[in-house]
Amino acid sequence: MEKFIDEQTRVIKPRVWEKPVLLLISGGVDSTVASALLLKILNSEQVHLMYMDTGLMRKNETEAVRANLEKLGAKNIHIIMCEDEFLSALKGVTDPEKKRRIIGDMYMKIQEREVIRLKLPDDYFLAQGSIRPDFLESGQQGSKNANIIKSHHNVASPLVIAKREAGRIIEPLEKLYKNEVRDLGRFLGVDEAVLSRHPFPGPGLAVRIVGEVTKANCDILREVDSIFIEELKRRRTPSGSSLYDDIWQAFAILLPVRSVGVAGDVRKYSRVIALRAIISSDGMTAGVYPFETRDLLEISTRITNSVKEVGRVTYDITSKPPATIEWE
Ligand code: XMP
Repeated sequence: MEKFIDEQTRVIKPRVWEKPVLLLISGGVDSTVASALLLKILNSEQVHLMYMDTGLMRKNETEAVRANLEKLGAKNIHIIMCEDEFLSALKGVTDPEKKRRIIGDMYMKIQEREVIRLKLPDDYFLAQGSIRPDFLESGQQGSKNANIIKSHHNVASPLVIAKREAGRIIEPLEKLYKNEVRDLGRFLGVDEAVLSRHPFPGPGLAVRIVGEVTKANCDILREVDSIFIEELKRRRTPSGSSLYDDIWQAFAILLPVRSVGVAGDVRKYSRVIALRAIISSDGMTAGVYPFETRDLLEISTRITNSVKEVGRVTYDITSKPPATIEWE
């Protein structure tokens, strides 16, 4: 790791010199580690970190992102609050592909507008935390899904393409695989909680709300998701690790159906939630996590007791293939 950092310093420092570097971040493992690396190599005053709060994030995510970046020594953190823009663009849209397209386009539009607003000199450098698989997947022939995924990784946004053509892109993690990124992050002092985080899709909660994405729906899902994840972090496997660490990816999905239940002597139609937890090594294929029944029962009870809109909890027992990991 020391050698890798030395090498990157020798490449990046003379290239950038004292010019500003703008890093686009999602708050995930890769962009956080890329931030840590640039903050180590360069002067923290010249490093600008831009993050969009789309309103499709998990509970308390933006605050956590800011705290993590500050801990790494970041001085210029630009958090763009754009929930209203995203939710208005998504109003009435239920088609999954359309949702993804709208979100991808909105990311690019806001990104370009906000970069102009920063008033950086024209010769600033643009950095991103793309890692080796991002490029491999983007280049994959005939893979429609890879294109969609990558549009959110910003590998091919117009801003990135323009900067790439101008020779002003910095991608310090481009040769690394995920496990190497984690090792580097550990070495650079990135919090273990960030490094061991489950993957989260670019379009965020929008692809976990089947049907229309509204603020009310996002709020319900955020609440359920945070209870589910908190329980997984708290519960242990027989070998002593947390269920969260034993699972490759876990999350909740809000379904567009209402189901009948009883509250006192009144019949009530409430929302239905699905929980998904999978084991995988790369996300390409996945198996269902074999929970102890008691864990699922207790988690379900806590969800229905705490989130009043939810009246029924189901567990998705489908592997990939045939199902994908996300529901949309
Ligand atoms: P699927 O649902 O295709 O997901 O089995 C495989 C992995 O990719 C994540 N995923 C995405 N990641 N942008 C991303 O950055 C996306 O649009 C996207 N869609 C799916 C998914 O969470 C899983 O880890």
